[in-house]
Amino acid sequence: MNHLIAPSVLAADFANLQRDIEMINKSEADWIHVDIMDGMFVPNISFGFPVVNAINKHAKKPLDVHLMIVEPDRYLKNFKDAGASGIIVHYEVCSNLHRTIQYIKELGCRAAVALNPHTPVLLLEDIIADLDQVLIMSVNPGFGGQRFIEHTYKKLKDIKELSNRLNPNLFIEVDGGVDAYNAAKLIEAGANVLVAGSSVFSSPDPSAAIANLKNPYSKSRS
Ligand code: DX5
Ligand code: ZN
Repeated sequence: MNHLIAPSVLAADFANLQRDIEMINKSEADWIHVDIMDGMFVPNISFGFPVVNAINKHAKKPLDVHLMIVEPDRYLKNFKDAGASGIIVHYEVCSNLHRTIQYIKELGCRAAVALNPHTPVLLLEDIIADLDQVLIMSVNPGFGGQRFIEHTYKKLKDIKELSNRLNPNLFIEVDGGVDAYNAAKLIEAGANVLVAGSSVFSSPDPSAAIANLKNPYSKSRS
């Protein structure tokens, strides 16, 4: 599978959200990554349904909604109605993960589970066949612009191995500190969806930064 790029609007200019969404529409990006933070699961609050609706109004690419919230089941339908095409819940907050995944699928969304840096990949062994997507956090969730955690490469290799064995069509997404310099190595390790916030939006040419993530080999240091 050719890898996909999902720019994270957390790093966009919220006062010019329409402009930034239109930039993504015209770019080589595949999805739009939308980070929802509740101030409970993570020590930060981002935005809620009205903003997701506003993004969806202008977006021409699927919304990949990353829920960094406790009790996500309460809000799954709201996010579907706000335009989510994929919904990512965190392993660490779901005590009935199988039920949550079935619910996301019943809503007609791509069902995904995110793992914090400390959560072992092997914990997904008995659910991976039911998933459409896994998100490996390569920073602690809550903020953009953090330093990439190197141990992520090993986790990607582990999840890729599980995926080869139990669910070969799995989207394997990596989120946090991704840029055109580590992109090639991440893909080599097993990632097929790259999320990037700061490296896209702090670039003087965000559209070119997206193109570099899509074609990273020339930019790789390794
Ligand atoms: C972090 C979020 C990320 C964030 C990534 O909690 O889940 O999606 O936007 O931002 P960068 O690419 O700046 O690390
Ligand atoms: Zn995210």
